[in-house]
Formats: sequence, structure tokens, C-alpha cells
Amino acid sequence: MSVNIAIDGPAGAGKSTIAKAAAKAVGFIYVDTGALYRSVAYYAISKGADVSSPESVTALLPEITPELKFIDGSQHVFVNGEDVSDKIRTPEVSMGASAVSAIPAVRDFLFDLQKKIAAENNVIMDGRDIGTVVLPDADLKIFLTASAEERARRRHIELTEKGENVTFESVLADVNQRDYNDSHRDIAPLKQAEDAALCDTTELDLSQATEKVIAMINETIKSKEQ
Ligand code: DC
Repeated sequence: MSVNIAIDGPAGAGKSTIAKAAAKAVGFIYVDTGALYRSVAYYAISKGADVSSPESVTALLPEITPELKFIDGSQHVFVNGEDVSDKIRTPEVSMGASAVSAIPAVRDFLFDLQKKIAAENNVIMDGRDIGTVVLPDADLKIFLTASAEERARRRHIELTEKGENVTFESVLADVNQRDYNDSHRDIAPLKQAEDAALCDTTELDLSQATEKVIAMINETIKSKEQ
């Protein structure tokens, strides 16, 4: 039986950095499910489709084969055989992913792929609805969050380091918009599962937050072995 750890929370809470480091520490596969929604948005944008139109995006789904491959321990996202891992990280695709993730057909389309990976591997899977919808029986659920200002501050540094020319105000506006979209959509909205442990990283630095998460995961692994 595989061990499944679910980490959910809003954009910029540190989920991917922390989950990646934790997966390395415990020898699990790290699965970034947001990359799947981004890959659908990327494809729709590349076809000139309106990402907020459920009809347009749903019509494209039969043409899309998303795949996750784990190369040297890190996740690569492929769309129809093309490695799009870097191309899906732009602000345009971020906003597009938030839009397509509100479309029920898109969530159904990506559900089986996520379930299959979790059934076959020991995983730390991060997203918005992993503990509530995708892996309701996960061995451990963590809801990782931080204040919107702190998350925008972190994302702004990240984008600036990548050479993107964006202001803090525009990043904060994006964070607030995505929080609103993600938590107000009708289907699988971002919310803490009842049985999830809350981990607020506003006042923690990355190594403190990572240590905390690794300790929780190790405890879960230990209790599963007993
Ligand atoms: O984690 P991220 O920023 O890469 O996610 C991109 C978008 O995908 C985000 O706006 C919310 C959505 N998403 C989702 O609805 N469900 C998930 N399990 C993961 C991401």
C-alpha cells in the first residue's frame, strides 16, 4: 500500500518548495497538480481559445494528453509529448490555470491521472482539493497557508529573480484575484479539509516550515509502519 500525503493551500504559501524538499527527505515522489491545470491552460492559450469559456476549453480536452514524468526526482509536465514545464510558469498561464480549473470537465479530465499516480507511488501531492476531493483517504493532510501580503512578497521575489518585470502591487492583485477565484468556484473550491492539520507559514522561514512538515510526515510514516 502506498503512502499518500496531501498538501493543499493557496497560491504562494510555499507548498511546492516545502513539498519538494520534504519528498526528497523522505524518498517520496512530489506531485505538483497545479502543473496539470497549467498545462491545460497553456494548450488552450496556444490555440487562441478563451480560457474562461467552458465550451471552448472543454472542446479542446480530447486533443490534450497531459503526462507527468519524474526525471532525476523532479517532475516534468508534458503536453502531447512536448515538455512544457518552464512555459507554464508565466503570469498569463497562472491566471489561465485559475480560470480553467473552475471548469468541471477539466477537473474530471485530470482526476484519474492524479488518482493513478497516488495509487502507484508513495506521494506528497500538492494542490487545492487533494485532501478534500482527490485523496480524501490520504494518510496525512496538511493545509499550508500564509497571509496574502507575505505570499505576494515571496512570489514577487521569485518572479524578479527570473527576470520578470512586475510590481509588488500587481503580484498582490494577482494573488488576491486567484485566492478569490480558487475559493469561490462552485466545484472543488480551495478549503481546508476537516481532518487537515493547519500550518501557517507567515511567521516561519522556509527551513522552519519545511522542518515542521517533514516532522509531521515522518510521524505518519512511523505510525503506518507499526
Ligand atoms: O498551484 P498552482 O499555482 O500551480 O495552481 C495553478 C491553478 O490551478 C490555481 O489557480 C488553482 C488550480 N488548481 C486547482 O484548482 N486544483 C489543484 N489541485 C491544483 C491547482
